Amino acid sequence: MSSINTMTKETNIDNTMEKIVSLCKRRGFVYQGSEVYGGLAGTWDYGPFGTELDSNIKQYWWKKFVQDRENIYGINASIMMSPKVWEASGHTESFTDPLVEDKITHKRYRADHLLEEAGIDVNNMSVEEMGEKMSELNLKSPAGNSVTEPKVFNLMVEAKIGAVEGEKESVYLRGEITQGVHVNFKNILDSMHPKLPFGVAQIGKAFRNEIVPANFLFRVREFEQMELQYYVRPNKEDGDKQFEYWKQFSMDWYKGLGIRESNLRLREHEENERAHYAKDAWDIEYKTPFGWREAWGIHNRSDWDLKRHQEYSGVSMEYLEQDGTRVMPWVIETSGGVGRAFLFVLLDAYREDKIGGEDRTYLALSPHIAPVKVAIFPLLKNKPELVSKAREVYKSVKEKIPQIMWDDNGNIGKRYRRQDEIGTPYCVTIDFDTLENDTVTVRDRDSGEQKRVPILDLLGSLSIY
Ligand code: GAP
Repeated sequence: MSSINTMTKETNIDNTMEKIVSLCKRRGFVYQGSEVYGGLAGTWDYGPFGTELDSNIKQYWWKKFVQDRENIYGINASIMMSPKVWEASGHTESFTDPLVEDKITHKRYRADHLLEEAGIDVNNMSVEEMGEKMSELNLKSPAGNSVTEPKVFNLMVEAKIGAVEGEKESVYLRGEITQGVHVNFKNILDSMHPKLPFGVAQIGKAFRNEIVPANFLFRVREFEQMELQYYVRPNKEDGDKQFEYWKQFSMDWYKGLGIRESNLRLREHEENERAHYAKDAWDIEYKTPFGWREAWGIHNRSDWDLKRHQEYSGVSMEYLEQDGTRVMPWVIETSGGVGRAFLFVLLDAYREDKIGGEDRTYLALSPHIAPVKVAIFPLLKNKPELVSKAREVYKSVKEKIPQIMWDDNGNIGKRYRRQDEIGTPYCVTIDFDTLENDTVTVRDRDSGEQKRVPILDLLGSLSIY
């Protein structure tokens, strides 16, 4: 067990990250993993509002990438996979980071990060070259001690299964959710009979033994990925066309989270930056307070995965064309972290302003992903006629919009502030006029403006989805 330092390594040029971490804890979005035991580094637990936001992001992805399409199949594969899968996929051999060890504290650090912090561009540098550069600059660990030569370190998380001690079998918790899709390629062909091109999509947990978990949800050891593996005919023309399509589609999806366009960009990977499986790779990057960082990856994996699984398993991974020819499809992958999308959405939505002469903090979340869409208030909680009318409105809205909240605690101003802080787009107050004329006050989060709306028109007046 080790305590969590949310800001290690990467410099936070303003304090928005600290404010987000604090808001997340205070308002039930995200808590440290195993917090009562001092925290387990690189793990975070989602609280009630965080769970709703997280689920809205995933549902929005599933709708756009799976449900709105005819030729994309959703699956849900196991987290524990045979070690053979990872030998075939190349992760056992190549899924590595260059590490140095502090000679006094024996803590390990990423050599590339230490060099980057010293202003060195590590693109195209081999591990040996990193070592030479570190010696030349006499780089020390963050604790000020000498460090060892960089060595490669595997990121896969191992677990043991089986009932008898000594006879337990080693398995890996998947380092990317991708392989759960590729090992089911034949099952999809045999059970769904798809025609090329077609896709297989999945959302699920992945695990990486990150040496330096950092920046809150940005780099963690347990996280969720949303991935599409899109199988195409194996030639450059189809590969390039689909790559371009899914690159733009993924970017549009990211913008659809409500993130400002000026904070998003696409960047092509340098040749030495690409993962071992990638022929071509681009990232969608978000402008964080600690610099431009990867949000999403789009890769042309060619036939790397299928070919290797065919070779290692002995099972044919070929697709039979209608004219009888057999081909090994290429795959275009689009892959993003749920936690990173969650963090970037919050960073982008965080606002401080003054309203009615008072300071306020609010989250300008896009209504379709806001954890609570509407809050319903009776003006006074000790007036049974107001409470009963408000309950009626609450019940009828909840039937159509499940993510709503009841709040009768404190004065209306305080209730607005609480809802602003969790990004609720609308607050609806039931007051004495409601009892007279069946109208309610609808207050808009961003402008703070209020308007009177007949209860019958309430649902139609809310722009949520
Ligand atoms: N199957 C391809 C793949 O896994 P990746 O670029 O290693 O590619 C895809 O990961 C996405 O997963 C990243 O763009 C990022 O959003 C997320 N991700 C990767 N490692 C992460 C980590 N340690 N913590 C949080 N998210 C991570």
